[in-house]
Amino acid sequence: MNVLIIGIGYVGLVTAVCFAEMGHNVTCLDTDVEKIAKLRKGELPIFEPGLSELAARNGAAGRLKYSCSYEESLCEVDICFLALPTPANPDGTCNLDALFSAVDAIAPLLSSPLTLVVKSTAPPGTAYTLKKRLLSELYKRERNVDFFFAVNPEFLKQGNAVSDFMKPDRILLGVEDAHAEHVLREIYRGFSLSHNRILVMDILSAELAKYAANAMLATRISFMNELAYLCEKVGANVESIRTALGADVRIGYSFLYPGVGYGGSCFPKDLQALLATAKEQAVELKIISAVHEVNERQKRLLGQKIAQVLQPLHGKVIAIWGLSFKPETDDMRGAPSLVLIEELIAQGASVQLFDPIAMPNAKKILRHLPHLTFCQDEYAAARNADAIALITEWKQFRFVDLEKIISQMRMNYFFDGRNQFDPQKMRMHGFAYYGVGLPEKSSS
Ligand SMILES: NC(=O)c1ccc[n+]([C@@H]2O[C@H](COP(=O)([O-])OP(=O)(O)OC[C@H]3O[C@@H](n4cnc5c(N)ncnc54)[C@H](O)[C@@H]3O)[C@@H](O)[C@H]2O)c1
Repeated sequence: MNVLIIGIGYVGLVTAVCFAEMGHNVTCLDTDVEKIAKLRKGELPIFEPGLSELAARNGAAGRLKYSCSYEESLCEVDICFLALPTPANPDGTCNLDALFSAVDAIAPLLSSPLTLVVKSTAPPGTAYTLKKRLLSELYKRERNVDFFFAVNPEFLKQGNAVSDFMKPDRILLGVEDAHAEHVLREIYRGFSLSHNRILVMDILSAELAKYAANAMLATRISFMNELAYLCEKVGANVESIRTALGADVRIGYSFLYPGVGYGGSCFPKDLQALLATAKEQAVELKIISAVHEVNERQKRLLGQKIAQVLQPLHGKVIAIWGLSFKPETDDMRGAPSLVLIEELIAQGASVQLFDPIAMPNAKKILRHLPHLTFCQDEYAAARNADAIALITEWKQFRFVDLEKIISQMRMNYFFDGRNQFDPQKMRMHGFAYYGVGLPEKSSS
């Protein structure tokens, strides 16, 4: 099939490359001229494991094309996916400007029937709003062209996106007509061969289902973070509680890890959008509201702990291990590390940073701050530091030479924001170790 993907970011590029890998001819359209120029040269604008190999192979096979022009891209397209950003407005509502502008650009160019699929995460009702907008544009131009609207929310996880896309848990289709369903089933046939992964429902339910999934995952994280907070007060161990909970097959282990709060470009803004949607309907979502509040608190707790232990922070040197919002991605959007770094600097500390992949993106965001040093590895970051704070659980941090690390530090504090290390072993190595939700005696 001839596929057009509009918006070549984390979702759009993975979608495009994976469709090409399944044999479809894919055009990638983005208004970011620099990004398209890079892609044409074979350079990927994002880091995602396994993506560059697939992009190179399918590019060489002529199944992937890149363009900045709506006019050029819309010729002979069977299906078009909108993978455009839907960030939060300052009031928490979902900003649909990119979707509106894409539909406005498509309207004057539509000359043959097209199936338009919203892949972006957008509140219930968005697809109908876009459809009305397109209809009215066509009406104004006195054009009579068939088009079909559908939604296909994306569930990939950054850091594992290629594998998630190629072998999805489910492929969610929100449709209102048989044609769109048929075209979507056809394009996804190769991804659903071993067993049926395709779930078809009405458009509003599919739009809301995506928010519900993110809200459920965020709820599990905040639930554990809230318990971790209580554990520290009563002297219990949240890791023991996590294993006790996870062993129950009705609960399972996924997304039960306490830490420094969730971040990224999805959970925070999607929960806000869900709350805003509910508010518009005069509905109070008490659980989701609490999930968001607990997360806001959690993002600040580690900074408060560091300040309490090392007080005063003025003149102290803190090493930060890991900056991206999760491992295996270079994405810094909504990263909890940003909250901690700003707090430490505000209290007069100097900060030595290292992340295996996200340093270039982190530099763009943090360059205005004083007292920051970007280091070449985790050892350089720890040199002459009073404390290390592990924020993102990159695997390589688990295998560091702890003797070497502590021998280069000025003081011996280790704040493990992801409970990656064994407290006993860390103490044996001479660290004053602080985890999340761990009892005081195993923390010092
Ligand atoms: N990132 C994820 O892990 C993830 C997972 C599931 C769903 N989603 C959802 O998918 C959507 C896209 O997210 P993302 O992280 O890929 O976004 P992104 O910011 O990485 O990429 C969006 C791209 O769209 C381009 N763009 C903006 N306006 C445009 C226009 N009018 N025409 C053409 N291109 C335009 C931008 O230049 C950018 O390259 C969002 O709604 C998000 O909530 C994201």
